[in-house]
Amino acid sequence: MSGIELQGVSRRFGSVAAVDDVWLDIADGEFLVLLGPSGCGKSTLLRMVAGLLPPTGGRVRLAGADITDVPPQGRDLAMVFQSYALYPHLSVARNLGFPLRARRWPRARIRAKVAEVAAQLDLVELLDRKPRELSGGQRQRVALGRALVRDPGAFLMDEPLSNLDAKLRAGTRAEISALHRRLGATMVYVTHDQVEAMTMATRIALLNAGKLEQVGTPAEVYDQPATTFAARFLGSPAMNLLDATVRAEGGGLTARAAEVSLDLGIEGELPEREVVLGVRPEHLRPAADAEAGIRALVTAVENLGHEEVAHCEVGASAICVRGPRPLDLRPGDRVALTADARHLHLFDPGSGRRLTWQSAPVAAGV
Ligand SMILES: Nc1ncnc2c1ncn2[C@@H]1O[C@H](COP(=O)(O)OP(=O)(O)O)[C@@H](O)[C@H]1O
Ligand SMILES: [Mg+2]
Repeated sequence: MSGIELQGVSRRFGSVAAVDDVWLDIADGEFLVLLGPSGCGKSTLLRMVAGLLPPTGGRVRLAGADITDVPPQGRDLAMVFQSYALYPHLSVARNLGFPLRARRWPRARIRAKVAEVAAQLDLVELLDRKPRELSGGQRQRVALGRALVRDPGAFLMDEPLSNLDAKLRAGTRAEISALHRRLGATMVYVTHDQVEAMTMATRIALLNAGKLEQVGTPAEVYDQPATTFAARFLGSPAMNLLDATVRAEGGGLTARAAEVSLDLGIEGELPEREVVLGVRPEHLRPAADAEAGIRALVTAVENLGHEEVAHCEVGASAICVRGPRPLDLRPGDRVALTADARHLHLFDPGSGRRLTWQSAPVAAGV
Protein backbone atom coordinates (compact mmCIF):
# COMPACT_ATOMS: atom_id res chain seq x y z
CA MET A 1 0.00 0.00 0.00
CA SER A 2 1.70 3.17 -1.14
CA GLY A 3 -1.04 5.66 -1.68
CA ILE A 4 -0.13 9.32 -1.29
CA GLU A 5 -2.33 11.85 0.47
CA LEU A 6 -1.86 15.58 0.10
CA GLN A 7 -3.69 17.41 2.85
CA GLY A 8 -3.92 21.13 2.26
CA VAL A 9 -0.36 21.28 0.91
CA SER A 10 0.88 24.82 0.21
CA ARG A 11 4.18 26.41 -0.69
CA ARG A 12 4.91 30.10 -0.74
CA PHE A 13 8.00 31.76 -2.18
CA GLY A 14 7.86 35.24 -0.67
CA SER A 15 4.56 36.66 -1.86
CA VAL A 16 4.08 33.96 -4.54
CA ALA A 17 1.76 31.08 -3.64
CA ALA A 18 3.39 28.48 -5.93
CA VAL A 19 1.14 25.72 -4.54
CA ASP A 20 -2.05 26.74 -2.78
CA ASP A 21 -3.98 24.39 -0.47
CA VAL A 22 -3.93 21.22 -2.55
CA TRP A 23 -6.02 18.29 -1.28
CA LEU A 24 -5.53 15.10 -3.25
CA ASP A 25 -5.72 11.35 -2.53
CA ILE A 26 -3.56 9.32 -4.89
CA ALA A 27 -4.56 5.68 -4.63
CA ASP A 28 -2.10 2.82 -4.43
CA GLY A 29 -1.24 1.70 -7.98
CA GLU A 30 -2.62 4.81 -9.61
CA PHE A 31 -0.95 6.69 -12.50
CA LEU A 32 -1.72 10.25 -11.46
CA VAL A 33 -0.72 12.96 -13.90
CA LEU A 34 -0.15 16.46 -12.53
CA LEU A 35 -0.97 18.58 -15.56
CA GLY A 36 -0.84 22.30 -16.13
CA PRO A 37 0.94 25.14 -17.90
CA SER A 38 4.49 26.18 -17.18
CA GLY A 39 4.80 27.89 -13.78
CA CYS A 40 1.54 26.51 -12.32
CA GLY A 41 3.35 24.73 -9.45
CA LYS A 42 3.69 21.13 -10.70
CA SER A 43 7.40 20.71 -9.91
CA THR A 44 7.01 22.49 -6.58
CA LEU A 45 4.23 20.07 -5.59
CA LEU A 46 6.20 17.01 -6.71
CA ARG A 47 9.32 18.21 -4.87
CA MET A 48 7.27 18.49 -1.68
CA VAL A 49 6.09 14.89 -2.12
CA ALA A 50 9.70 13.83 -2.68
CA GLY A 51 10.85 15.70 0.41
CA LEU A 52 13.18 17.97 -1.56
CA LEU A 53 11.25 21.06 -0.50
CA PRO A 54 9.40 21.62 2.77
CA PRO A 55 5.77 22.75 2.46
CA THR A 56 4.84 26.05 4.10
CA GLY A 57 1.47 24.51 4.97
CA GLY A 58 -0.34 21.17 5.03
CA ARG A 59 0.72 17.55 5.45
CA VAL A 60 1.98 14.81 3.11
CA ARG A 61 1.15 11.17 3.90
CA LEU A 62 2.55 8.04 2.27
CA ALA A 63 1.01 4.61 2.84
CA GLY A 64 -0.98 6.09 5.71
CA ALA A 65 2.00 7.59 7.57
CA ASP A 66 2.71 11.31 7.90
CA ILE A 67 6.03 11.90 6.09
CA THR A 68 5.94 15.70 5.99
CA ASP A 69 9.07 15.96 8.12
CA VAL A 70 10.84 12.81 6.85
CA PRO A 71 13.96 13.54 4.73
CA PRO A 72 13.96 12.36 1.08
CA GLN A 73 16.14 9.29 1.67
CA GLY A 74 13.74 8.16 4.41
CA ARG A 75 10.78 8.15 2.01
CA ASP A 76 9.99 5.01 0.04
CA LEU A 77 9.87 7.02 -3.20
CA ALA A 78 12.01 7.31 -6.32
CA MET A 79 12.23 10.48 -8.39
CA VAL A 80 12.99 10.64 -12.12
CA PHE A 81 14.01 14.06 -13.42
CA GLN A 82 13.69 15.65 -16.84
CA SER A 83 17.45 16.18 -16.91
CA TYR A 84 18.14 12.46 -16.23
CA ALA A 85 20.80 13.42 -13.65
CA LEU A 86 23.00 10.44 -14.58
CA TYR A 87 26.60 10.27 -13.36
CA PRO A 88 28.63 10.99 -16.52
CA HIS A 89 31.77 9.16 -15.42
CA LEU A 90 29.94 5.93 -14.49
CA SER A 91 28.85 3.15 -16.87
CA VAL A 92 25.16 2.37 -17.32
CA ALA A 93 25.57 -0.65 -15.05
CA ARG A 94 27.15 1.45 -12.29
CA ASN A 95 24.56 4.20 -12.71
CA LEU A 96 21.82 1.60 -12.30
CA GLY A 97 23.51 0.05 -9.27
CA PHE A 98 24.29 3.38 -7.61
CA PRO A 99 21.25 3.57 -5.29
CA LEU A 100 21.92 0.00 -4.16
CA ARG A 101 25.62 0.61 -3.45
CA ALA A 102 24.53 3.61 -1.42
CA ARG A 103 22.35 1.20 0.56
CA ARG A 104 25.30 -1.17 0.98
CA TRP A 105 23.73 -4.10 -0.81
CA PRO A 106 26.16 -7.03 -1.38
CA ARG A 107 27.81 -6.96 -4.80
CA ALA A 108 26.22 -10.16 -6.13
CA ARG A 109 22.75 -8.96 -5.22
CA ILE A 110 23.36 -5.62 -6.91
CA ARG A 111 24.57 -7.39 -10.07
CA ALA A 112 21.45 -9.57 -10.15
CA LYS A 113 19.09 -6.64 -9.61
CA VAL A 114 20.85 -4.50 -12.26
CA ALA A 115 20.59 -7.40 -14.75
CA GLU A 116 16.89 -7.80 -13.98
CA VAL A 117 16.10 -4.11 -14.47
CA ALA A 118 18.34 -3.86 -17.56
CA ALA A 119 16.36 -6.70 -19.13
CA GLN A 120 13.06 -5.03 -18.23
CA LEU A 121 14.09 -1.77 -19.90
CA ASP A 122 16.01 -3.24 -22.83
CA LEU A 123 19.35 -1.91 -21.58
CA VAL A 124 21.35 -5.18 -21.52
CA GLU A 125 23.45 -4.26 -24.58
CA LEU A 126 24.28 -0.86 -23.12
CA LEU A 127 25.49 -1.76 -19.64
CA ASP A 128 29.16 -0.93 -20.36
CA ARG A 129 28.52 2.42 -22.03
CA LYS A 130 28.85 5.86 -20.49
CA PRO A 131 25.84 8.23 -20.55
CA ARG A 132 27.43 10.38 -23.29
CA GLU A 133 27.43 7.30 -25.58
CA LEU A 134 23.64 6.97 -25.29
CA SER A 135 20.74 8.59 -27.14
CA GLY A 136 18.25 10.74 -25.24
CA GLY A 137 15.74 7.91 -25.09
CA GLN A 138 18.34 5.47 -23.79
CA ARG A 139 19.46 7.92 -21.11
CA GLN A 140 15.85 8.32 -20.06
CA ARG A 141 15.53 4.55 -19.73
CA VAL A 142 18.66 4.45 -17.55
CA ALA A 143 17.21 7.20 -15.35
CA LEU A 144 14.01 5.16 -15.05
CA GLY A 145 16.02 2.02 -14.32
CA ARG A 146 17.90 3.75 -11.54
CA ALA A 147 14.54 4.50 -9.92
CA LEU A 148 13.34 0.96 -10.57
CA VAL A 149 16.23 -0.93 -8.89
CA ARG A 150 15.08 0.28 -5.50
CA ASP A 151 11.57 -1.19 -5.84
CA PRO A 152 10.14 2.00 -4.35
CA GLY A 153 6.58 2.29 -3.13
CA ALA A 154 5.93 5.07 -5.60
CA PHE A 155 7.61 6.75 -8.56
CA LEU A 156 7.71 10.50 -9.01
CA MET A 157 8.50 11.76 -12.51
CA ASP A 158 9.00 15.37 -13.53
CA GLU A 159 8.52 15.89 -17.29
CA PRO A 160 10.68 12.83 -18.04
CA LEU A 161 10.02 12.93 -21.78
CA SER A 162 10.39 16.63 -22.48
CA ASN A 163 13.97 16.30 -23.81
CA LEU A 164 12.98 13.65 -26.37
CA ASP A 165 11.87 14.29 -29.94
CA ALA A 166 8.22 13.68 -30.85
CA LYS A 167 8.62 10.17 -32.24
CA LEU A 168 10.71 8.92 -29.33
CA ARG A 169 8.27 10.54 -26.92
CA ALA A 170 5.38 8.51 -28.27
CA GLY A 171 7.38 5.28 -27.93
CA THR A 172 8.63 6.04 -24.43
CA ARG A 173 5.12 7.06 -23.37
CA ALA A 174 3.88 3.60 -24.29
CA GLU A 175 6.86 2.00 -22.50
CA ILE A 176 6.18 3.88 -19.27
CA SER A 177 2.48 2.94 -19.43
CA ALA A 178 3.40 -0.72 -19.97
CA LEU A 179 5.85 -0.53 -17.07
CA HIS A 180 3.13 0.90 -14.86
CA ARG A 181 0.78 -1.94 -15.75
CA ARG A 182 3.51 -4.52 -15.15
CA LEU A 183 4.66 -3.13 -11.80
CA GLY A 184 1.28 -1.95 -10.55
CA ALA A 185 3.23 0.78 -8.72
CA THR A 186 1.91 4.20 -7.76
CA MET A 187 3.20 6.80 -10.20
CA VAL A 188 2.93 10.57 -9.99
CA TYR A 189 3.86 12.07 -13.31
CA VAL A 190 4.30 15.79 -14.01
CA THR A 191 3.76 17.17 -17.49
CA HIS A 192 2.48 20.21 -19.36
CA ASP A 193 1.65 17.96 -22.32
CA GLN A 194 -2.06 17.19 -22.58
CA VAL A 195 -1.41 14.22 -24.89
CA GLU A 196 0.80 12.55 -22.27
CA ALA A 197 -1.88 13.21 -19.66
CA MET A 198 -4.72 11.87 -21.82
CA THR A 199 -2.85 8.73 -22.89
CA MET A 200 -1.05 7.72 -19.68
CA ALA A 201 -3.11 8.86 -16.70
CA THR A 202 -5.57 6.83 -14.70
CA ARG A 203 -6.49 10.27 -13.31
CA ILE A 204 -5.48 13.79 -14.19
CA ALA A 205 -5.03 16.52 -11.58
CA LEU A 206 -5.14 19.81 -13.45
CA LEU A 207 -3.30 22.67 -11.75
CA ASN A 208 -3.85 26.36 -12.46
CA ALA A 209 -1.78 29.00 -10.66
CA GLY A 210 -1.02 26.68 -7.74
CA LYS A 211 -4.63 25.54 -7.26
CA LEU A 212 -6.31 22.29 -8.28
CA GLU A 213 -8.66 23.13 -11.11
CA GLN A 214 -10.13 19.65 -11.68
CA VAL A 215 -9.35 16.04 -10.80
CA GLY A 216 -10.78 13.18 -12.84
CA THR A 217 -10.16 10.45 -15.37
CA PRO A 218 -8.96 11.68 -18.77
CA ALA A 219 -12.47 11.06 -20.15
CA GLU A 220 -14.12 13.01 -17.33
CA VAL A 221 -11.83 16.01 -17.69
CA TYR A 222 -12.13 16.00 -21.48
CA ASP A 223 -15.87 15.35 -21.70
CA GLN A 224 -17.01 17.37 -18.67
CA PRO A 225 -14.46 20.14 -18.11
CA ALA A 226 -15.20 21.78 -14.76
CA THR A 227 -14.08 25.23 -15.90
CA THR A 228 -13.25 27.19 -19.03
CA PHE A 229 -9.57 26.77 -18.08
CA ALA A 230 -9.92 22.97 -18.21
CA ALA A 231 -11.96 23.24 -21.41
CA ARG A 232 -9.18 25.23 -23.05
CA PHE A 233 -6.28 23.22 -21.69
CA LEU A 234 -7.29 19.77 -23.01
CA GLY A 235 -7.97 19.27 -26.70
CA SER A 236 -6.20 20.44 -29.81
CA PRO A 237 -7.46 22.65 -31.23
CA ALA A 238 -9.00 23.74 -27.94
CA MET A 239 -12.73 23.82 -27.21
CA ASN A 240 -14.46 26.71 -28.98
CA LEU A 241 -15.78 29.20 -26.42
CA LEU A 242 -18.29 31.90 -27.37
CA ASP A 243 -19.97 34.54 -25.23
CA ALA A 244 -23.69 33.93 -25.53
CA THR A 245 -27.06 34.62 -23.97
CA VAL A 246 -29.38 31.81 -22.90
CA ARG A 247 -33.05 32.54 -23.22
CA ALA A 248 -36.32 30.61 -23.25
CA GLU A 249 -37.88 30.32 -26.69
CA GLY A 250 -40.89 28.19 -27.55
CA GLY A 251 -40.72 26.15 -24.33
CA GLY A 252 -37.02 25.31 -24.59
CA LEU A 253 -33.70 27.05 -24.00
CA THR A 254 -31.67 28.56 -26.80
CA ALA A 255 -28.15 29.99 -26.77
CA ARG A 256 -27.88 33.13 -28.85
CA ALA A 257 -25.01 35.33 -29.96
CA ALA A 258 -24.15 37.21 -33.14
CA GLU A 259 -24.54 34.60 -35.91
CA VAL A 260 -25.42 31.93 -33.30
CA SER A 261 -28.72 30.30 -32.42
CA LEU A 262 -28.45 26.85 -30.87
CA ASP A 263 -31.16 24.78 -29.25
CA LEU A 264 -29.75 23.58 -25.90
CA GLY A 265 -32.15 20.64 -25.66
CA ILE A 266 -33.44 21.81 -22.25
CA GLU A 267 -37.14 22.27 -21.59
CA GLY A 268 -38.23 25.13 -19.40
CA GLU A 269 -38.64 28.83 -18.82
CA LEU A 270 -36.13 31.14 -17.19
CA PRO A 271 -34.93 34.71 -17.17
CA GLU A 272 -32.26 35.47 -19.70
CA ARG A 273 -28.65 35.01 -18.59
CA GLU A 274 -25.16 35.42 -19.97
CA VAL A 275 -23.05 32.29 -20.45
CA VAL A 276 -19.92 31.08 -22.13
CA LEU A 277 -20.96 28.48 -24.68
CA GLY A 278 -18.44 25.71 -25.38
CA VAL A 279 -18.30 23.18 -28.19
CA ARG A 280 -15.36 21.04 -29.29
CA PRO A 281 -14.13 21.38 -32.89
CA GLU A 282 -14.84 17.68 -33.59
CA HIS A 283 -18.48 18.03 -32.50
CA LEU A 284 -19.38 20.67 -35.07
CA ARG A 285 -21.00 19.47 -38.30
CA PRO A 286 -22.88 21.11 -41.17
CA ALA A 287 -26.44 22.11 -40.22
CA ALA A 288 -29.38 21.08 -42.36
CA ASP A 289 -31.00 24.49 -41.87
CA ALA A 290 -28.68 27.24 -43.15
CA GLU A 291 -30.43 29.84 -40.93
CA ALA A 292 -29.98 27.89 -37.66
CA GLY A 293 -26.91 26.93 -35.67
CA ILE A 294 -23.63 28.79 -35.99
CA ARG A 295 -23.17 30.81 -39.18
CA ALA A 296 -19.45 30.85 -39.92
CA LEU A 297 -17.08 32.19 -42.55
CA VAL A 298 -14.21 29.82 -43.33
CA THR A 299 -10.88 31.68 -43.26
CA ALA A 300 -8.34 28.85 -43.55
CA VAL A 301 -8.24 25.06 -43.82
CA GLU A 302 -5.33 22.99 -42.48
CA ASN A 303 -4.62 19.50 -43.78
CA LEU A 304 -3.27 17.33 -40.95
CA GLY A 305 -3.10 14.21 -43.10
CA HIS A 306 -5.74 12.09 -41.38
CA GLU A 307 -8.06 15.01 -40.79
CA GLU A 308 -8.60 18.68 -41.51
CA VAL A 309 -9.09 21.73 -39.31
CA ALA A 310 -11.09 24.66 -40.63
CA HIS A 311 -10.58 28.05 -38.98
CA CYS A 312 -13.71 30.19 -39.12
CA GLU A 313 -15.03 33.58 -38.09
CA VAL A 314 -18.34 33.79 -36.24
CA GLY A 315 -19.28 37.42 -35.78
CA ALA A 316 -16.24 38.90 -34.02
CA SER A 317 -15.13 35.50 -32.65
CA ALA A 318 -13.00 32.70 -34.05
CA ILE A 319 -13.82 28.99 -33.95
CA CYS A 320 -12.34 25.77 -35.32
CA VAL A 321 -14.02 22.78 -36.93
CA ARG A 322 -12.20 19.47 -37.07
CA GLY A 323 -13.08 16.29 -38.92
CA PRO A 324 -12.00 13.53 -41.27
CA ARG A 325 -10.54 14.56 -44.61
CA PRO A 326 -11.94 16.00 -46.77
CA LEU A 327 -14.05 18.45 -44.77
CA ASP A 328 -15.28 19.93 -48.05
CA LEU A 329 -14.70 23.46 -46.79
CA ARG A 330 -12.68 26.16 -48.54
CA PRO A 331 -11.53 29.62 -47.44
CA GLY A 332 -14.33 32.07 -48.22
CA ASP A 333 -17.11 29.49 -47.76
CA ARG A 334 -20.07 30.45 -45.62
CA VAL A 335 -21.39 27.50 -43.61
CA ALA A 336 -24.02 26.81 -41.01
CA LEU A 337 -22.73 24.52 -38.26
CA THR A 338 -24.49 22.67 -35.52
CA ALA A 339 -23.78 20.14 -32.74
CA ASP A 340 -25.81 17.71 -30.66
CA ALA A 341 -27.14 19.34 -27.51
CA ARG A 342 -25.24 16.78 -25.40
CA HIS A 343 -21.99 18.20 -26.81
CA LEU A 344 -22.76 21.79 -25.83
CA HIS A 345 -21.13 23.05 -22.65
CA LEU A 346 -22.20 26.06 -20.60
CA PHE A 347 -19.94 28.00 -18.25
CA ASP A 348 -20.51 30.95 -15.94
CA PRO A 349 -18.82 34.01 -17.50
CA GLY A 350 -17.72 35.36 -14.11
CA SER A 351 -16.28 32.31 -12.34
CA GLY A 352 -15.62 30.23 -15.46
CA ARG A 353 -17.25 27.27 -13.70
CA ARG A 354 -19.32 24.72 -15.55
CA LEU A 355 -23.09 25.10 -15.41
CA THR A 356 -24.78 21.71 -15.48
CA TRP A 357 -27.90 21.22 -17.55
CA GLN A 358 -29.94 21.17 -14.35
CA SER A 359 -28.22 24.08 -12.68
CA ALA A 360 -28.23 26.32 -15.72
CA PRO A 361 -31.89 27.32 -15.30
CA VAL A 362 -31.54 27.45 -11.50
CA ALA A 363 -28.38 29.55 -11.64
CA ALA A 364 -30.08 31.78 -14.17
CA GLY A 365 -32.39 33.06 -11.48
CA VAL A 366 -29.51 34.16 -9.27
N1 LIG B 1 12.97 28.24 -5.49
C1 LIG B 1 12.06 29.11 -5.91
N2 LIG B 1 12.11 30.40 -5.51
C2 LIG B 1 11.17 31.30 -5.89
N3 LIG B 1 10.13 31.00 -6.70
C3 LIG B 1 10.03 29.75 -7.12
C4 LIG B 1 10.98 28.74 -6.77
N4 LIG B 1 10.60 27.57 -7.35
C5 LIG B 1 9.47 27.85 -8.04
N5 LIG B 1 9.13 29.15 -7.91
C6 LIG B 1 7.93 29.79 -8.50
O1 LIG B 1 6.81 28.99 -8.19
C7 LIG B 1 5.93 28.90 -9.30
C8 LIG B 1 5.74 27.47 -9.68
O2 LIG B 1 6.93 26.95 -10.21
P1 LIG B 1 7.07 25.43 -10.66
O3 LIG B 1 6.59 24.54 -9.58
O4 LIG B 1 8.48 25.25 -11.12
O5 LIG B 1 6.07 25.36 -11.90
P2 LIG B 1 5.91 24.22 -13.04
O6 LIG B 1 6.74 23.04 -12.64
O7 LIG B 1 4.46 23.95 -13.08
O8 LIG B 1 6.39 24.86 -14.30
C9 LIG B 1 6.53 29.78 -10.38
O9 LIG B 1 5.96 31.04 -10.30
C10 LIG B 1 7.99 29.81 -10.01
O10 LIG B 1 8.61 30.97 -10.51
MG1 LIG C 1 8.34 22.09 -13.67
